[in-house]
Amino acid sequence: MIQQLPFEYEILTSSELLSSEDALLLQQARNSTQQSYAPYSLFHVGAAARLTNGESITGTNQENASYPVAICAERVLLSALSSRYPGAAVTTMAISFHNHKGVSKHPITPCGMCRQALVEHSFHFGQVIRLILAGQVGEVYIINDASSLLPLGFTANDMR
Ligand code: THU
Repeated sequence: MIQQLPFEYEILTSSELLSSEDALLLQQARNSTQQSYAPYSLFHVGAAARLTNGESITGTNQENASYPVAICAERVLLSALSSRYPGAAVTTMAISFHNHKGVSKHPITPCGMCRQALVEHSFHFGQVIRLILAGQVGEVYIINDASSLLPLGFTANDMR
């Protein structure tokens, strides 16, 4: 027997097609790339999330001279969230970046470790996380459930 898991995402040609609420969140992510600390990769990532309590929060990647110590923007955001608004969950997260190659024009997706962290957050709060992914300009990807980026992901259910 072969089991197939569907994966779909929406592609918008520009952030101008987003709702005003989503456009604002993506703008926060784009702006927050300026706060990233990435002197080694020069790859500056910014994430902004809308929360179940109506607030929003941002996170940026934080690198280290000892390279493996670096933390991605998405996980910095989740950690900041749990101290600033414990009990609140992410409903939508926008992610953007810029680097030394000029204006970024394509979306990036969360790395494998961040996918696992997003699934944990979703699972813990019983909250689906929507993703809005874009460079500083250009196409926008919308993924309605971040967990779909990690098919057959490992969760607490597997430990019961
Ligand atoms: N990075 C993120 O912050 N988020 C991602 O989704 C991909 C990668 C960071 C880690 C590192 O500081 C830099 O980007 C280059 O990998």
